[in-house]
Amino acid sequence: EVLLIVRQPTPIIHLFLTMFLVFRNAVLETEVTKVGCRMPAARKTGTTIVGVVFKDGLVLGADTRATEGMIVADKNCSKIHYISPNIYCCGAGTAADTEMTTQIISSNLELHSLSTGRLPRVATANRMLKQMLFRYQGHIGAALVLGGMDCNGPHLYSIYPHGSTDKLPYVTMGSGSLAAMAVFEDRYKQDMEEEDAKRLVRDAIAAGIFNDLGSGSNIDLCVITKGRVDYLRPHDMANKKGVRTGSYKYKRGTTGVLTKTVTKLDLEVVEETIQTMDTS
Ligand SMILES: *[C@@H]1O[C@H](CO)[C@@H](O)[C@H](O)[C@H]1NC(C)=O
Repeated sequence: EVLLIVRQPTPIIHLFLTMFLVFRNAVLETEVTKVGCRMPAARKTGTTIVGVVFKDGLVLGADTRATEGMIVADKNCSKIHYISPNIYCCGAGTAADTEMTTQIISSNLELHSLSTGRLPRVATANRMLKQMLFRYQGHIGAALVLGGMDCNGPHLYSIYPHGSTDKLPYVTMGSGSLAAMAVFEDRYKQDMEEEDAKRLVRDAIAAGIFNDLGSGSNIDLCVITKGRVDYLRPHDMANKKGVRTGSYKYKRGTTGVLTKTVTKLDLEVVEETIQTMDTS
C-alpha cells in the first residue's frame, strides 16, 4: 500500500503570495529603470507540439529541440509528459514550467484516481491545469496540448499560459504551430485511420522542424487508444546527420609562407607562484 502526502499552500495563502509578488514586481520595475537598468525580458522558446483525434483515439506529437535564445541547449529533449495512464500532455514554453506543471497535475490526479477508484477524465485534467495557470496570471510560461482517452472517448485540448483553453479535433502550439497548422488545415479529415493520423502528425511536426528555427531534431509521437498507449520516442529522425564523404584535412605547406619575422621579447620573470589543484 502506498501513502502519498502532498503539501500545498492553501488557496488564500496563494492569493496573498501572488498579490505580494505582483506588487513587488511593479515596484522593482519602476525603481530599476530609474537607475538605468532594464528588467529581464520574457524568454521566447521555440517548439512544435500538436495533437489530432482519429477514429478510435488520438495522436500527440512533438519535436525534440530545446533552445536558450540562439543556442540549441538540448537536441533530444522529451516534450510529451505523462499525466495519468490514459492521459498525456505536450508542453511548449519555459521547460521547467511545463515539466513542473504537468508533474503537479499528474500527482493530484493520481490522488483523485486513488480516492475515486476510476481513471481520471481529460476534462478534469484540463480544468485543473487551466485553474492553476489562471491563478498565476500567465507568469507560469506553459503552453500545453492535452490529450487522452476516458469513459467519454478521446479528447484533445490546447491550454494557453494565461489559462484559456480550446477543445478541438486538431490543435497545434509553440513557435512552429503555424507551419504545423498549415499541414492540418490542408489534410485533416474526420474519422481517420490510425496510420493516416500518425503520418499527418509526423508531417505537421516535420513542417515545424524544417520551417521554424525554434524547432528541430527528432519527432516523438504518443498514440492513445482505448486501454493502450504507444509512446514512440523517437518515431522518426527527420534530420539524420549526414556523413562526411571527403577528407578536409590540408597537407602541411598547402599555404605558402611568404615572409617571416621573429621578434625577440626582452622579458624578465619577476615573480612566479604555483597553485596546486585539488583533484581528490
Ligand atoms: C533520444 O532519447 C531517447 C531516449 O529518451 C533515445 O532512445 C534516442 O535514441 C535518443 N535519440 C538520439 C538521436 O540520441
